[in-house]
Amino acid sequence: MADREGLYILLISVHGLIRGHDLELGRDADTGGQVKYVLELARALAAHPRVARVDLLTRQVLDPKVDEDYARPLEQVAPRAYIVRLPCGPRRYLRKEVLWPYLDSFADRALAHVRAVGRVPDLVHAHYADAGYVGIRVSSLLEVPFVFTGHSLGQVKRRRLMEQGLRPEVIEAQYKISQRIEAENQVLDHADLVIASTHQEVGQQYSLYDNYQPRRMVVIPPGIDLHRFHPPRRGWQRPPIADQIARFLRDMNRPMVLALSRPDPRKNIAALVHAFGGNPRLREMANLVIFAGTRDDITTMEKGPRRVLSELMLLIDRYDLHGITAYPKHHEPEDVPDIYRLAARSRGVFVNPALTEPFGLTLLEATASGLPIVATSDGGPRDIIEYCKNGVLIDPLDTERLGEVLVQVLGDRRQWNRWSKAGLAGVRRHFSWEGHVNTYLREVSKVLRRSRRRKGTSAPLKSRLPTADRILVCDIDNTLIGDREALERLLALLADYHGHIGFGVATGRRIESARKVLREWGVTMPDFFITAVGSEIHYGPKLVEDSGWLRHIDFRWEPAAVHTALQDVPGLRLQPKEEQRAFKISYFVDPERAPALREIKRRLRKKDLHVNVIYSHQAFLDILPVRASKGAALRYFADKWGIPVEHILVAGDSGNDEDMLGGETLGVVVGNHSSELEHLRGGERIYFAEGAYAWGILEGIEHYDFLGSFRLDAED
Ligand code: GLC
Ligand code: MG
Repeated sequence: MADREGLYILLISVHGLIRGHDLELGRDADTGGQVKYVLELARALAAHPRVARVDLLTRQVLDPKVDEDYARPLEQVAPRAYIVRLPCGPRRYLRKEVLWPYLDSFADRALAHVRAVGRVPDLVHAHYADAGYVGIRVSSLLEVPFVFTGHSLGQVKRRRLMEQGLRPEVIEAQYKISQRIEAENQVLDHADLVIASTHQEVGQQYSLYDNYQPRRMVVIPPGIDLHRFHPPRRGWQRPPIADQIARFLRDMNRPMVLALSRPDPRKNIAALVHAFGGNPRLREMANLVIFAGTRDDITTMEKGPRRVLSELMLLIDRYDLHGITAYPKHHEPEDVPDIYRLAARSRGVFVNPALTEPFGLTLLEATASGLPIVATSDGGPRDIIEYCKNGVLIDPLDTERLGEVLVQVLGDRRQWNRWSKAGLAGVRRHFSWEGHVNTYLREVSKVLRRSRRRKGTSAPLKSRLPTADRILVCDIDNTLIGDREALERLLALLADYHGHIGFGVATGRRIESARKVLREWGVTMPDFFITAVGSEIHYGPKLVEDSGWLRHIDFRWEPAAVHTALQDVPGLRLQPKEEQRAFKISYFVDPERAPALREIKRRLRKKDLHVNVIYSHQAFLDILPVRASKGAALRYFADKWGIPVEHILVAGDSGNDEDMLGGETLGVVVGNHSSELEHLRGGERIYFAEGAYAWGILEGIEHYDFLGSFRLDAED
């Protein structure tokens, strides 16, 4: 699959529009910084010599309203890096808040993708709560470490919306915020590593969660693209955006005090105008240059930006900053690096006076362009100035002081040179994607080592299911167990074919009791368990429950009504409490006294109860939801993992095995079977073995040439 040795990393970022070129950043609320981040991360990781392949899984969108690029199932974005688009719910483009119901199917598709690649990833790294939900499932099922990056958090968002005066019901309806927070809580329980961008994010945001575990968190600031953002080089031509700035200014040669942000009240641009306008020295020595988004007609804009821009215009006029302040109406994303370079060439300064600044990407871009910075003393800027030593932290409410600081920064030539240089070095070391990936892989290696140690050497390191090309599924009682010598032979055979044969059990027992009896018989950990007569599925050593299966079978299931309907049927007696499961009601049957099975089914149907009735060993009666049975569970399992049903050999001995023996699977009925299976004799792909217990299984393996090339057409 890959052209070199090394790590295979699965990145998941479900929402928004992701493609390898011309990102439509800002097109909508879901296509922004995160989209850019994951794409750059995928490329940067794939460029590292320790990485063999990176797949960025996202949602496939087929919608005339968006470009066809977003429908392509596979897009290569760099050597060894791919965007993989998986179907998830409706085909059209949907906002992230409404994707929740479709995330289970996204997880299933992810598994099928892994199977198609033919290699289990070493790591699953999810971005944002929705992908976190998927990542928990995929990483648990594959038994590989799980890394999470929040990008933003529901608790923080909820607080902010409440502060803005939104009512809880509205927040709920519009943002599905509790679902998001619940997913985040689960993520924090599961994650082996949480990557944050700033220390503040760890200390003030993740700490709002009950299961906050600072030990499992690391701060790795995102990288910035140093090919885009760099100081003006020799031969640099005056860029077109310079004309847009020059229109406003009397003297283009003065140093620029530059601000660049969305016209958002929290960005607090007005403070800078106060600082500039209120400081006569500054007005004499510098120009103020403000890029606050783009606009056509302020009066028709939304309330927030309208207010910000109107205030800006009024302040410029009030301080009479005409001729020394530029505030161009338009600029394109391509202009942004040039704007910083113009400011750097003028020996100016970049200012970010936001009220709060958890990260501050613009500060990094400015730094990478050789500009000193002056910024709010808050999480992001504090980290940046600590690493880059290229400026001053300020109190965004003290505008007088801000003015003085700016005079001082622009007035000291030697300091300006020192800061500009230190910033360039710091950004390269700490905020480049190369630096990011180095730290990332160092942290990930620790996680991989830890998980290997935890699992010990005997257990499989990762799930075998995505790579196994055939699967053996055995009923436990009277099939797998019963004869020690035969069982030992079978286990030795499985060990020889380790990695090629996946192994599962399908039993009427509940999971705890299945594990116990297997341990007593020395059976190595199966890859999966179908238990409680097919009403539950669990995977691997951690016994991860398949919640998708539970949701699937929870259909027309009315356990109370079943109890009532059967309560005074003669010859039926409820089994002990621990045998009653959420989706299984079980009775003992006295065949002498009980009515015929047909009669029991009729009784249930008359009460309009649609259930599955399963009779085994002339002694047990199980009532399950219509969609549940060992066979149905096995087919669901096969579909989920993309395993052809005809590559599954199934062995059983009694009534509850019947529906998994039928159909395309390679069925084996052991010699010691109960009479209710007799009628299967002569059926296609049902082999009646002579040998009892595991001898019968071994015989079936031989019969179908299961370890060789399969003899599918073998007739009994
Ligand atoms: C196992 C279960 C029991 C079930 C029987 C038949 O013995 O413990 O509850 O009725 O299998 O499926
Ligand atoms: Mg049995």
